[in-house]
Amino acid sequence: MTTTQTYRILEADDIAAYLRERGHADGEHLTVREVSDGNMNRVFIATGPTHSLAVKQALPWVRVAGPSWPMSPSRADAEARAYAQVAAVAPDTIPAILGYDAANYALTMEDMSDLRVLRTVLNEGGSYGDTSRHVGEFVAALSFATSDFGMSSADRKALIAASVSPELCKITEDVVLSEPYIEHEHNHWHPALDDLAAAFRADPLLRTEVADLRHTFMTGAQALLHGDLHTGSIMVGNREGTPVVRVFDPEFSFVGPIGFDLGLYWGNALVSGIRARALGIKGDHADQLALSWQAFETEFRRLWPTRVDTFFDDAYLDRFLRRLWSDSLGFAGAEIIRRIIGFAHLTDLTTLPDPGPASREALLLGRALIVDRDGLAGPEDVRALLEKR
Ligand SMILES: Nc1ncnc2c1ncn2[C@@H]1O[C@H](COP(=O)(O)OP(=O)(O)OP(=O)(O)O)[C@@H](O)[C@H]1O
Ligand SMILES: [Mg+2]
Repeated sequence: MTTTQTYRILEADDIAAYLRERGHADGEHLTVREVSDGNMNRVFIATGPTHSLAVKQALPWVRVAGPSWPMSPSRADAEARAYAQVAAVAPDTIPAILGYDAANYALTMEDMSDLRVLRTVLNEGGSYGDTSRHVGEFVAALSFATSDFGMSSADRKALIAASVSPELCKITEDVVLSEPYIEHEHNHWHPALDDLAAAFRADPLLRTEVADLRHTFMTGAQALLHGDLHTGSIMVGNREGTPVVRVFDPEFSFVGPIGFDLGLYWGNALVSGIRARALGIKGDHADQLALSWQAFETEFRRLWPTRVDTFFDDAYLDRFLRRLWSDSLGFAGAEIIRRIIGFAHLTDLTTLPDPGPASREALLLGRALIVDRDGLAGPEDVRALLEKR
């Protein structure tokens, strides 16, 4: 772990010269502003007369905590690696990457200031548009290309070795896949949920199923993941009449179970739907799980005939997708639960006039997704589960 700073930490005043040095700008005047609003890294936007760019740099610590919470900046390597893999197969699903400066853990990329974070749009009552299809295709393209279906066995082993990310995986293993089910100082919740939080900690069936998901996360090296694919990692908007969707911030990327990416998106989409229902907003929420799954499955099946290892036959594909579906539901449930009784909560629920009832509904849905995941055959069953509540 890097705990001391051995590289150049960029400030807003350095960005113009930095971009010139890297060949991303000429002599034009650039106006630079810092827009970091996440917890981890710094993001600057440099705007000139003809174009603008974004620079994201990882510090050797968590940005909001400072040096007292060291964190390896190699998370920027993981982000650059994931972007490079997606750029080769589905470049329109991510921001354009102009360059990665590995010595300084800094990415230079497309300025997306004209787009908005999906969670913000949804919280304001906006709709998904084409986002879920886009997310399904993103996951299918990245996961197929970096699986044993899309890569030679030797290249895969090299990718697995290169993308090992112990620090960030440990965060997920703890914060998502264990802490909410034990007594832990990170955990907190709305007082109306005291009974459910206690019941979840004393629920042996739930505990064993979460242990199963946790072990799948630790060992299921199926493909390179985004690793943090929630609605805050997606930007949406419109450019010259064309809808634009960009998946960003893949710093938690590693080779893991594909269902973790779909599941994070589903968990967040389902909670967003519960928020809309609590507010009496009629939107397109109920369709999103089906749309993203169908887009994922269609794209994965379209790529299947190109697989590099044909020992994997068509019947195996069906089995693989069935397991992936079930994993995705389980991870969706774990994401929902941890975002209500764990460390980091969802503004979708916390900004409701009364977060209690909707949070309770979401927690029970999360539990059902985990413990009943093998009995839910398809998106219609999940919709029925939601409507029953
Ligand atoms: N390319 C970009 N163009 C415009 N704004 C951006 C760009 N990249 C990031 N941002 C802004 O900076 C914010 C933080 O970016 P990002 O989520 O990548 O950083 P992070 O520090 O990894 O965040 P987190 O702590 O949530 O992981 C985004 O929510 C967005 O507002
Ligand atoms: Mg991040």
